[in-house]
Amino acid sequence: MSAITQPSRPDVAQVSALPNRWHLLGLEGKNRGEILSIVESAVGFREVLERDIKKVPALRGKTIVNLFLESSTRTRTSFEIAGKILSADTINIGSSDSSVTKGETVLDTAAVLEAMNPDVIVVRHSASGVPGMLAKLLKRSAIVNAGDGLHEHPSQALLDLVTIRESFGKITGLTIGIVGDVRHSRVARSNAYAHLALGNQVRFIGPPTLVPHDLSAAYSGAIPVFHSLKEGIAGCDIVMCLRMQLERMDEHFVPHLEEYSKEYGVSERMLRAYAPHAKVMHPGPANRGIEVSSEVLDGPRSLFHLQVKNGVATRMAILFHAVNGLSATVRN
Ligand code: CP
Repeated sequence: MSAITQPSRPDVAQVSALPNRWHLLGLEGKNRGEILSIVESAVGFREVLERDIKKVPALRGKTIVNLFLESSTRTRTSFEIAGKILSADTINIGSSDSSVTKGETVLDTAAVLEAMNPDVIVVRHSASGVPGMLAKLLKRSAIVNAGDGLHEHPSQALLDLVTIRESFGKITGLTIGIVGDVRHSRVARSNAYAHLALGNQVRFIGPPTLVPHDLSAAYSGAIPVFHSLKEGIAGCDIVMCLRMQLERMDEHFVPHLEEYSKEYGVSERMLRAYAPHAKVMHPGPANRGIEVSSEVLDGPRSLFHLQVKNGVATRMAILFHAVNGLSATVRN
């Protein structure tokens, strides 16, 4: 009996990388032009969200896996909505419903997913560097960092820029005070890289335990550190509050949250006195009454909900470029 000849089947590892694959791992090292092109694409997509039928065919036939191995409300939901509006097929995997709970490594999990040939894998993980590792080791899928440990949260900083552009009519010539738990904040890191690339003034404000002086060295000394809230926010166009990342603190960085709030909680009284024209941003989720008062968060100077809204258009832009390359032009 003659042997049955199997048709040759390309091994996943042999499949060549997609020609236009573009990873978004972080904003460190990104230049002004790259950042502006993503922001402009997001602005182009914003109009789609106002339509009766929120659907464009830009990613029809493409597959996006949202691999969220750390909890998320905004980022996960907006990446899913963004993919669906672009007509991509989107699949969501969380830590509790993945085989990671059975001991599979994140790399094996991602390789399994890549064998099913998705165009993009969006990944959130509590360990810094996981998206970068996947981008190096996987051959086909574009990797998008949806937040990795203490490292970066690039899509958050990009949606912040889209929000600033909408609110101020510009994204340069601004002074941004980033207040609070800078030490543990991937949002602070991505925003700092983005604003420095755009030529904006950035300040870090908080107690020495959460904003050590040597943090400035990580940005070539370009970011002054303030341990006084009123001195730090004086003259700021934007006060960006950071969540106290209690889950990332393995020691006591502040004596008591109430004490912290008295010194560094952003209140309307403080803003009126020292930064009367400032807008306030917060990436969420917020600890109301700790890093920011409800009066500020729900008040007229708050961009909190606009940030969430712009998250969808921004993530549409990121997914579009992940599939088509950064030089592709958005046409709705
Ligand atoms: N800002 C942010 O990343 O929020 P989620 O954790 O809800 O995604």
